[in-house]
Amino acid sequence: MKMILGIGAGYVGGPTMAMIAKKCPEYKVVVVDINQDRIKAWQSENLPIYEPGLKELVQATLNRNLFFSTDIQENIAKADIIFVSVNTPTKTFGTGAGKAADLQYWEKTAREIVRFSSSDKIIVEKSTVPVRTASAMEHILNANDKGIVFDVLSNPEFLAEGTAIQDLEKPDRVLIGGQETERGKKAISSLVELYTHWVPKEKILTTNVWSSELSKLAANAFLAQRISSINSLTAFCELTGANVHEVSKAIGMDSRLGSRFLCPSVGFGGSCFKKDILNLVYLCQHYGLKEVAGYWEQVVLMNEYQRKRFVQKMLNAMFNTVASKKIAIFGFAFKANTGDTRESSAIYICRELTEEHARVVITDPKALENARIDLKDIEEKLLFEPDPYKAADGAHAIAILTEWDCYRSLDYKKIYQSMEKPAFIFDGRNILDHQELFEIGFNVYPLGKTSLIH
Ligand code: UDX
Ligand code: ADP
Repeated sequence: MKMILGIGAGYVGGPTMAMIAKKCPEYKVVVVDINQDRIKAWQSENLPIYEPGLKELVQATLNRNLFFSTDIQENIAKADIIFVSVNTPTKTFGTGAGKAADLQYWEKTAREIVRFSSSDKIIVEKSTVPVRTASAMEHILNANDKGIVFDVLSNPEFLAEGTAIQDLEKPDRVLIGGQETERGKKAISSLVELYTHWVPKEKILTTNVWSSELSKLAANAFLAQRISSINSLTAFCELTGANVHEVSKAIGMDSRLGSRFLCPSVGFGGSCFKKDILNLVYLCQHYGLKEVAGYWEQVVLMNEYQRKRFVQKMLNAMFNTVASKKIAIFGFAFKANTGDTRESSAIYICRELTEEHARVVITDPKALENARIDLKDIEEKLLFEPDPYKAADGAHAIAILTEWDCYRSLDYKKIYQSMEKPAFIFDGRNILDHQELFEIGFNVYPLGKTSLIH
């Protein structure tokens, strides 16, 4: 039985390898990680990440042809193909701090692969990495004196959290970048063969390595750019009486533009967008492309502006002070249907409100545990409450920061009655019926629409 190894059992590695195990039953799929607790969690009822459909997917193959392990050495030795999905966070030190990708985990993994291998292998770069990483890794891997040859392929993952399973099952495309040599082409076709188990051939795109690496950064930059574009217009709409949803619909009906990723928000979050854009910005600066770098950096700056603007709007509306006022934060995850809070706008907003001495109460159906970790240093100034009704009880204001469905169907009459008056609601996702809330008695502040104030 051929063996596929996944190194890194995180948000990308875990679900991706589980899908490969399901679709390719003739392969043994092993996922390793240095984090023992994570591996234990993958083997248990309580998976380390929340993702709709993931539990069922893992249960279907666990201990049949899907295995989780901390034995990195033995599994590297046995593997035919190795997918690397270790983290590549933004560097926090030295050259490129705050922008460039920190490749230390990737390089450490590459060195471990060399150390424990005794046969040729295909190494698949799944983690998002800077353009040209694959060739750097190929140098490290092939500088061995055992006569082993490694072929490095770039195969970026485009899954989005919250919809990871459907994205993996029916991807828009699978991108595989490899060397244009005979060996490279052979390696590419091995990976194409694996994906054709469930992905139609016409959706599998093969390119050179650098195009593949750049396409991942570019796709995220383009998606984030759309959000920053629509968010920039929310500010404009609020001042002019235009309605951002009407504008968004009118724009989106142009088939050249399309309707997706035009939802206004308190700013995009997640582990990828900011990191990947800054990575692109850094690379452009490195190659002396000052204007190109500045162009993309603006997408991130606009996102930061949107977060600041949201807090400022709350302050202005609440008579320029929130000191000692209870504020209920509805939603802390960076988007609905995930417990992930990485780079969530809620982190920034809760910190700012606490700085203003507000009494912040956070509620979220899946992300409270991560919220506690993110705000550990100011924990004593915050409350964490799973029940939104209790969170809003006695509050001056509610801020909706995540578009969880459960917040759409709450009894806002009951909530209004339990709040201090005047009661404010700041809908940072525009998911509620603003007119109805206004009629209940709330002062309503949507994004990119005229506020409804009594
Ligand atoms: C993203 C990419 O979509 C995915 O292809 C890539 O592999 C990883 O990065 P993810 O970060 O999981 O996925 O979620 P995504 O759905 O893209 O949302 C990112 C952020 O943008 C969230 O905070 C979301 O709320 C926000 N968003 C999204 C908006 O504010 N408005 C929109 O219209 C869409
Ligand atoms: P992503 O969202 O990209 O999947 P995560 O942080 O969720 O990122 O997952 C990356 C995983 O990679 C973590 O569980 C981490 O412990 C693991 N990891 C990092 N370095 C190594 C390594 N050298 N060997 C094995 N696993 C590693």
